Amino acid sequence: MIAEPTPQTIARAADILRTGGLVALPTETVYGLAADATSGVAVARIYEAKGRPRFNPLIAHAADLEGAERVAVFTPLARRLAEAFWPGPLTLVLEKSSGAVCDLATAGLDSIGVRVPAHPVARAVLNAVGGPLAAPSANPSGAVSPTTAQHVADGLGEKLDLILDGGPCTVGVESAIIDARGDQGVLLRPGGLDRLALEAVAGPLGAPAEVNAKPSAPGMLTSHYAPHARVRLNAEEKRAGEVLLGFGGAPGADRDLSPTGDLREAAAALFRLLRELDAEGASTIAVTPIPETGLGEAINDRLRRAAAGR
Ligand code: TXA
Ligand code: MG
Repeated sequence: MIAEPTPQTIARAADILRTGGLVALPTETVYGLAADATSGVAVARIYEAKGRPRFNPLIAHAADLEGAERVAVFTPLARRLAEAFWPGPLTLVLEKSSGAVCDLATAGLDSIGVRVPAHPVARAVLNAVGGPLAAPSANPSGAVSPTTAQHVADGLGEKLDLILDGGPCTVGVESAIIDARGDQGVLLRPGGLDRLALEAVAGPLGAPAEVNAKPSAPGMLTSHYAPHARVRLNAEEKRAGEVLLGFGGAPGADRDLSPTGDLREAAAALFRLLRELDAEGASTIAVTPIPETGLGEAINDRLRRAAAGR
């Protein structure tokens, strides 16, 4: 389960990731729980393994600036920050390039957090995979971030396909996150680079309160995708003017999250189908009942907040 990084184990990690598995990787900040960012079902497994009761947007990790530019639209500010601090403990929130990663990886947002890590093992795996990896910290939801392979094994051991042991993380706290979509950067999370170093390159950084103080709807911070349509939960039937989002082969559904009732598949499809139904211009998206087990908890949390947001 815990493996020393060698050319063989790195090739194995890349194989596991390319076929939709989960690998814990050392980065210089904390250990990450990595999956193929382009696969909704692989990313659903991340949330499942962490036992996260809700979907948060995940950071996409790339091997280099070129890889990062395939998933995000770089502003001049972002380019300055990337040139100064990558590879390293800085995440940039930028406009997402369409189709670059699956919708679940960004929790349905049009923005994406992207970072090029400095740890040689993370970089070796990223180079071997050749595409972006979604990776939150490799701890169960609510627990502290792991800084050794043993921490990862203690928290998530049997849920992972492989843990690569790169030794203790040298930075030990998560990356600093800057929203660099505008001319002025906004420090969304302080982290492994201090503000003075960041501001020397970016100029004065704004505070996230300024961004999130104007939620688009009650209980709905701007960091969450909100459908335009109303959402009606536990729908037993489709009423006039509604579109119906089903689960498990619900009769009469306009779309089905998973015809076979597979919650992993449903999580992978959730944000895409909400957007598709929203785009049809219906005033209400009715959703048939979804079990509150496993990933169903996070799916229902997202739908409840969408329903309450209007
Ligand atoms: O150092 C790190 O950043 C580690 C290593 C593994 O890279 N990763 C990490 O991931 O700390 P996680 O999921 O534990 O924290 C990611 C944070 C979350 O608070 C999330 O809300 C924010 O990044 N985030 C990701 N994408 C975002 C976006 N598009 N907009 C705003 N916040 C975003
Ligand atoms: Mg975390």
